[in-house]
Amino acid sequence: MAVREVLRMGDPRLLEQAQPVEKFNTRELHALISDMRDTMAALDGAGLAAPQIGVGLQLVIFGVDDNPRYPDADAVPQTVLINPELIRIDDEMEDGWEGCLSVPGMRGLVPRFLRLRYRGFDEFGKVVERTAEGFHARVVQHECDHLIGVLYPMRIRDMRQFGFTEELFPGEDLGDD
Ligand code: NI
Repeated sequence: MAVREVLRMGDPRLLEQAQPVEKFNTRELHALISDMRDTMAALDGAGLAAPQIGVGLQLVIFGVDDNPRYPDADAVPQTVLINPELIRIDDEMEDGWEGCLSVPGMRGLVPRFLRLRYRGFDEFGKVVERTAEGFHARVVQHECDHLIGVLYPMRIRDMRQFGFTEELFPGEDLGDD
């Protein structure tokens, strides 16, 4: 168990396509997920993708119980999602503010699909399949983007809606990433 260093935007490893996990329920996989959980908890994140700690595998974790960084957000189930596939339901998009542990101290307004289906596996190889909406759907899209080398600033349509959290939301304690 260890808190790992999170790569920051500019590190070329964040731009790579991640590779599928081939073996489930291994000691290595459980150790990796344990480190990712520790790292996400230490930094108070809503999600973390393996490439963010320099591991180029298609593995993300996410979940929000009651996060001060996302005071208006609905709870999102604590999830391990491996080799994910996102399935479009319709074309409806919604703008929402996002931050990222790889882009500390900043926020941007990002359009995402309002609802979608996602499918993948947990660490034991059991199928995970859900329909998600709103903040839950946003978190899944943000994390899965990390697996194809996409960081949220690349999705911002109006770069005037991108800046330092302290300047965008003065007086609100949203943490520093
Ligand atoms: Ni991120």
